[in-house]
Amino acid sequence: MLVRRIAAIAATLLPKVFAQNIISLSGHDWILSNSDLNISCPASLPSQAHLDLHACQVIGSPYYGLNDFNLRFVAWANWTYTSAPISNLQANSSSTWLVFNGLDTFTSISFCGEHVAATNNQFRQYYFDVSAIFDDCQDDPVLSVNFGSAPKITQETADEPGQETWPYGIEIMYEFPNRQFMRKEQNDFGWDWGPAFAPAGPWYVQPAWIVQLNNPEVYIRNSLVDIYRQGQLNNLPPDQSQPWVVNASLDYFGAIPNGASLRYIISTPDNTAVSSGSLSNINITQGTVTGSTVVDSSLFELWWPSGLGPQTLYNMTITLEDSRNNTLASVNKRTGFRTIVLNENPISQAQLDQGIAPGNNWHFEINGHEFYAKGSNFIPPDPFWPTVTEERMRTLFEAVVEGNQNMLRIWSSGAYLPSFIYDLGDEYGILLWSEFEFGDALYPVDELFLDNVREEAEYNVRRVNHHPSLAAWMGGNELENLELANVNNTAPEEYDRYVSEYEKLFLDTLLPVVFGNSRSISYAPSSTSNGWLELNFSNPIPIVERYNNLTEGSVYGETDHYNYDPTVAFNLSSYPIGRFSNEFGYHSMPSLQSWQQVIPESQLYFNSSYVQLRNRHYPPGGLNTTNYYNSSLGMGEMTRAAIEWYPVPNKIDSVANFSAWCHTTQIFQADFYRSQIEFYRRGSGLPERQLGSLYWQLEDQWTAPTWAGIEYDGELGAGRWKVLHYIAKDAYQPVIIAPYYNVTTGDLEVYVTSDLWQAVSGTASFSWYDWSGNRLNISAAPSAQVNVGAINSTRVLSTNTFDILNSTGFNYSDVLLHMETTVQGMMPNSNQSKTFTHENWFHASPLSTAAMVDPGLELSYLNSTKNFSITATSGVAAWVWIDYPAGAVVTFDSNGFWLLPNQTREVGYKVKADSTEGGWIQGVSVESLYNNTIA
Ligand SMILES: *[C@@H]1O[C@H](CO)[C@@H](O)[C@H](O)[C@H]1NC(C)=O
Ligand SMILES: *[C@@H]1O[C@H](CO)[C@@H](O)[C@H](O)[C@H]1NC(C)=O
Ligand SMILES: *[C@@H]1O[C@H](CO)[C@@H](O)[C@H](O)[C@H]1NC(C)=O
Ligand SMILES: *[C@@H]1O[C@H](CO)[C@@H](O)[C@H](O)[C@H]1NC(C)=O
Ligand SMILES: *[C@@H]1O[C@H](CO)[C@@H](O)[C@H](O)[C@H]1NC(C)=O
Ligand SMILES: *[C@@H]1O[C@H](CO)[C@@H](O)[C@H](O)[C@H]1NC(C)=O
Repeated sequence: MLVRRIAAIAATLLPKVFAQNIISLSGHDWILSNSDLNISCPASLPSQAHLDLHACQVIGSPYYGLNDFNLRFVAWANWTYTSAPISNLQANSSSTWLVFNGLDTFTSISFCGEHVAATNNQFRQYYFDVSAIFDDCQDDPVLSVNFGSAPKITQETADEPGQETWPYGIEIMYEFPNRQFMRKEQNDFGWDWGPAFAPAGPWYVQPAWIVQLNNPEVYIRNSLVDIYRQGQLNNLPPDQSQPWVVNASLDYFGAIPNGASLRYIISTPDNTAVSSGSLSNINITQGTVTGSTVVDSSLFELWWPSGLGPQTLYNMTITLEDSRNNTLASVNKRTGFRTIVLNENPISQAQLDQGIAPGNNWHFEINGHEFYAKGSNFIPPDPFWPTVTEERMRTLFEAVVEGNQNMLRIWSSGAYLPSFIYDLGDEYGILLWSEFEFGDALYPVDELFLDNVREEAEYNVRRVNHHPSLAAWMGGNELENLELANVNNTAPEEYDRYVSEYEKLFLDTLLPVVFGNSRSISYAPSSTSNGWLELNFSNPIPIVERYNNLTEGSVYGETDHYNYDPTVAFNLSSYPIGRFSNEFGYHSMPSLQSWQQVIPESQLYFNSSYVQLRNRHYPPGGLNTTNYYNSSLGMGEMTRAAIEWYPVPNKIDSVANFSAWCHTTQIFQADFYRSQIEFYRRGSGLPERQLGSLYWQLEDQWTAPTWAGIEYDGELGAGRWKVLHYIAKDAYQPVIIAPYYNVTTGDLEVYVTSDLWQAVSGTASFSWYDWSGNRLNISAAPSAQVNVGAINSTRVLSTNTFDILNSTGFNYSDVLLHMETTVQGMMPNSNQSKTFTHENWFHASPLSTAAMVDPGLELSYLNSTKNFSITATSGVAAWVWIDYPAGAVVTFDSNGFWLLPNQTREVGYKVKADSTEGGWIQGVSVESLYNNTIA
């Protein structure tokens, strides 16, 4: 091979100094092929087969119509990615390596025609020494990666003699079975909010390299930085007066010469060094070099989540040097100084004295402070991760912060987030509760499986530990409260065995990876659990889970809540009481504008076959099982909820009617979530001392009836906000006023809840109206003083609607209560006094039976302020909705609000994406729930 010969000759003439040769394999010089199907098309890396097949027009858009069914052949086939011949390699390096940061999932890799390895874990980093193959290679080598069919391979695995089995229904299954046998994104096989493409390909954002080294050179393939308070132990609140310990550890291949050392520099974002020096306790092992130091805390500002203080970040450089101080390698990490602890300690005597119910805590503490976690659950934002760009994620994270959220639960069973998303979490101040990718199933525990999981966990724990936004690690989703409880029901005689297998994976295997690498991060084996019974660091496995060992009257752990009987949706006694709520929800339809992008015009009606086939909300175990709600399953649940609580649309134009129905399901969803958010938040001042509310789910990954608050739009790269995202934004304001109604007794209480860190005080006012907007002479107190302690709630009104309405003779369907609070307070970590106001409405009878009148809504656009102005002229307007046409994504400062007659609200907006060159403004319209009552 000519090129290499010349390189070899030249090398003998030049001084023997070679830099590392690192060749990125990213780019477009790839071919995707399947010989059985006779398909060959240009491909890129990173990618997945569906994306390349679509780009070269072998298949239509996977997102369109029924293509997640029609494209199943892609999932059942093998796909080979083949590179162009790789030039620029050095002939005389001491070693040549392949490095892959993400292979999805079952592969067979060859280099220069020689088999290198097989892989079977989407979440691991793989690196292979291919020096021998390269040395024998006669030409520029070609790299080829054959991706097997995950549905096929998992079926073969399940069929192996002696393979582990579980009772029927334990694996919650949507489209393809056997997901528990693969270390691949579990929802790739379908979920109740998503399609089942089972994609394959070199998927990650920093996908692959060839690395060539000479002696002594090293390549840093991964690294860990752990910053914690001296003496800190995982899961325990540390002493905030202690200095920071910085522990750094580099994973390398190559050779480190004797006498090597580690140096560090920590600088501000504008590159002013704050602290630097040598790390001590240097420990060099085969593959890892570690060192640590203690730094003076007064040098560093703390990092805080959004709404709780600034997001101060530092640039840390760790340099590996040889004995003569020559740099061998260095890594840069942007990091922050904070402690975050998941506190599950028993309720103390001091807490009992404050009226907190016995049991255990279950809340997060940032820098030693309790805070109220407000947020939602994040799912993989696209079925195909290679399309998830930083720009798309910035738009999404902006919406999180604009929605007054400070925490996202990165739900397992998706994928570990790429590092750039943690970087965005650090910047935006969004805490990312992270999970190992297991959920809604029990998993094999043979040694091969456990070793594979250990490698996956080790790589990801080390990769992301330095991000201040990392909130905690959890073993997986709904394992204790759902999976183990199911086993106990269906196979009680096997319960002990399955519990011990569960512990083998989630306590004996995963816990040591977290605790062995990090002192700064808490771990819990399962999301939604009753927490630990014992935490004792002198035991090899410090955590003993509580499971069902509960004491009456005590409160433990987190709750999740799904109840698809809409008749009890606003019955507060149907909500769970716990220390934290990590999931709750109900699905709704996306908007007409989103539907129009993905289904044909002829399918734009509520129960059309395309719409129904995109509804994946059916009972666990698949479509063939029966239960009370499966008559029309997810579609019926939405319909019943709409009919129960709101006037239902009956428009003559069928597309307008479809749109109004979609919108009404969104109003129910938002109303239900608001009721629960208000309930959980009020709990901060009740014996349960409830300190978190994360609803299900932040965003969509395709257009379908789902639990999302933000719709999917892959083309514009930003999704429309459903009613939910606006209402959650309102209910997550620091200070809220809200009604709590006992549907049985008619008792009505109003509370003001504040999650500020200092007491607030001010007033609350209450006014009763009929739908025409006339003030009603109802003698309940018109106003109250408000004094709310830090992260607390206080009752400001207590009355009984039965008494009021019976004594006044007003008609239930024509009585509304408007409530408003105005208080003075300070945001956390600020010393400026600020006014907080919030308003809310209460109606004793469902809006489905309300005596609504035409509010006479008027809309105008104010050129002076560039705001929209909305006025109700003739009646109370409920659920005012500002809508806008397809082709743009615009968010309004508020939406879904109520207006009194002669009340005007000016609403600003942000354009998140626009393909209409501003033309969308002409198409803005406004309606209220009254429009459902007219044709
Ligand atoms: C399909 O891919 C898998 C994994 O790479 C491999 O083991 C298998 O031999 C392949 N089958 C074919 C027909 O290429
Ligand atoms: C060095 O690191 C290895 C591997 O992590 C560990 O087993 C060993 O105890 C460490 N040695 C010291 C002196 O800390
Ligand atoms: C971080 O510091 C390193 C070394 O001091 C520098 O090369 C790099 O540009 C800095 N990065 C940022 C984002 O400031
Ligand atoms: C390497 O750097 C250290 C710390 O700055 C210094 O003490 C030492 O003398 C240097 N060694 C050499 C060989 O320059
Ligand atoms: C298992 O089921 C039994 C019978 O319903 C119940 O008493 C027990 O508390 C359950 N145990 C667990 C750990 O869920
Ligand atoms: C239940 O918890 C108590 C402590 O609260 C403990 O003493 C007891 O051993 C536990 N029982 C079981 C079966 O784990």
